[in-house]
Amino acid sequence: MNILGISAFYHDSAAALVRDGEIIAAAQEERFTRIKHDERFPENAVRYCLEEAGIKPSELDAVVFYEKPLLKFERLLETYLAYAPRGLFSFFRAMPQWLQQKLHLPREIDKGLGGDYSGPIYFTTHHEAHAASAFFPSPFDDAAIITLDGVGEWTTSSWGVGRGNRVELRAEIRFPHSLGLLYSAFTYYCGFRVNSGEYKLMGLAPYGEPRFADLIREHLIDVREDGSFRLDLRYFNYCQGLTMTNKRFDRLLGGPPRKTDGPLTQRDMDLAASIQLVTEQVMLKMAEHVHRETGMENLCLAGGVALNCVGNGRLLRESSFKHLWIQPAAGDAGGALGAALWCWYQQMDQPRKPNPADGQKGSYLGPEFTARESQRQLDASGAVYESFSSEDELADAVADELASGKVVGHFAGRAEFGPRALGHRSILGDPRRRDMQTRMNVAIKFRESFRPFAPSVMDGRQSEYFDLDAESPYMLIVAPVRDERRRRLTPAEEALSGVEKLKAQRSGLPAVTHVDYSARVQTLSQERSPRFHRILRAFEQKTGCPVLVNTSFNIRGEPIVHTPADAYRSFMFTDMDVLVVENCLLRKGAQPAMAGAAEYKQQFKAD
Ligand SMILES: [Fe+2]
Repeated sequence: MNILGISAFYHDSAAALVRDGEIIAAAQEERFTRIKHDERFPENAVRYCLEEAGIKPSELDAVVFYEKPLLKFERLLETYLAYAPRGLFSFFRAMPQWLQQKLHLPREIDKGLGGDYSGPIYFTTHHEAHAASAFFPSPFDDAAIITLDGVGEWTTSSWGVGRGNRVELRAEIRFPHSLGLLYSAFTYYCGFRVNSGEYKLMGLAPYGEPRFADLIREHLIDVREDGSFRLDLRYFNYCQGLTMTNKRFDRLLGGPPRKTDGPLTQRDMDLAASIQLVTEQVMLKMAEHVHRETGMENLCLAGGVALNCVGNGRLLRESSFKHLWIQPAAGDAGGALGAALWCWYQQMDQPRKPNPADGQKGSYLGPEFTARESQRQLDASGAVYESFSSEDELADAVADELASGKVVGHFAGRAEFGPRALGHRSILGDPRRRDMQTRMNVAIKFRESFRPFAPSVMDGRQSEYFDLDAESPYMLIVAPVRDERRRRLTPAEEALSGVEKLKAQRSGLPAVTHVDYSARVQTLSQERSPRFHRILRAFEQKTGCPVLVNTSFNIRGEPIVHTPADAYRSFMFTDMDVLVVENCLLRKGAQPAMAGAAEYKQQFKAD
């Protein structure tokens, strides 16, 4: 039985195909269209999922949409009426898309499937989809579930229980009280883009002191012992306006919002540290409450806030739950997957046997290109490459380049589903080199030098470097670098503040050690990705270091590369030294000149 899940028309539209409970394919539309956070009907992602399953739309048994549009529309109307006449402008701005598309989803889905589907269309609620995406692919027979989000229909956050083939949500927090929207309000206030710059805020937090945390707790959010909360809406504008915060918020925090691309001050860093701390405290309180209520050992997470890997790390270390599983596509793209799984288990009542290996298949659920197709695209781009027939020899050659300090773009196998690159669409480097972080940020990704990079470490060896015993296959857990791996700072280095802190080397792996001695770890097992693992192993054999820098293969504001041709262009227009596309290895010096670098860099907006 083939079930297609769809998320669309908000942000990060995506499609997923589940066959008899097994995830066959999942992909986000932005990768195909090259428009970041593309929210249109995911026609390319749907086409890809059907191709991967080898079926036509008419052979689908069910199509499931990840939220209930009428409920969401009701929320929009009620919010508007509560604030009228304020909010009229934003209300009018939202209306055309509602009237043309969102209120006519069966028609839109029919159109998107080329009129070739006449089976049932189901709708889950937004948080049912998140909860299903968190529990069903997890290795657990039963688990508590927490969804933490901006907003769905009315729900902004919920908790419940997953048991066997059922997910049951027991309590919720409703709009406009939202942890995700509070975090986004600070993202906006600090000059970053809402729904995409939240990562920057989290990366900035370790540079600051949480000196605004008390102010936030006194005035903006009232957190109760059980982790539930209310926001004081007099400080926010998202119910009635086109901005997140208002003048009263500015007065409380002592100034207007930072201008995008303006200088980053210590105050911005302190704001980031403060909202990050408050968010972690809410996450911990909520988890403790849910643990008390359920008495369960396992916790599953999804929803946009579950991408807050620093908070996740604290849940793993400090909460009473023993095991944690987080949906790697925790944002709305993952709703497509959750919706399809919900339909199979919950709607059709099919038995579920958790997959102890990995029901999410390493999240390598997206498109892949054959060696032949890759070479065709490279040839068409005029690329010069060496092709390898032995995987071991290729891995050995790549490891040599990495060990000599080269930056390597690695494009191989199926694309990752979710915002993190896990080695198949990644840029790799040697984490022991001091200049690696700045070089990768400034010359390759064209982004701010303050943002840290993440390590991929061989599974089983993470605890040699980090305070982390559990596996972290999806790079969703931040863990401290082990004490004995830390380098003591000189008094002069201790005195550095703001981004100057980057100048002090903090461990033997400087490129992946953040200024607070933390790292966002991916543990890599051979089972999940034999190819990437082979490279890591070859690097370890040459250097003794089982860790690589792993950052997503894209430049600032660009969706992760999708085709071999995208990868080649990105390679040519950045300072990357080496590119691997499937079984081909390309060196920068051997390539013919390519025009269009400036246009390429300009087409993507900053987050
Ligand atoms: Fe969501």
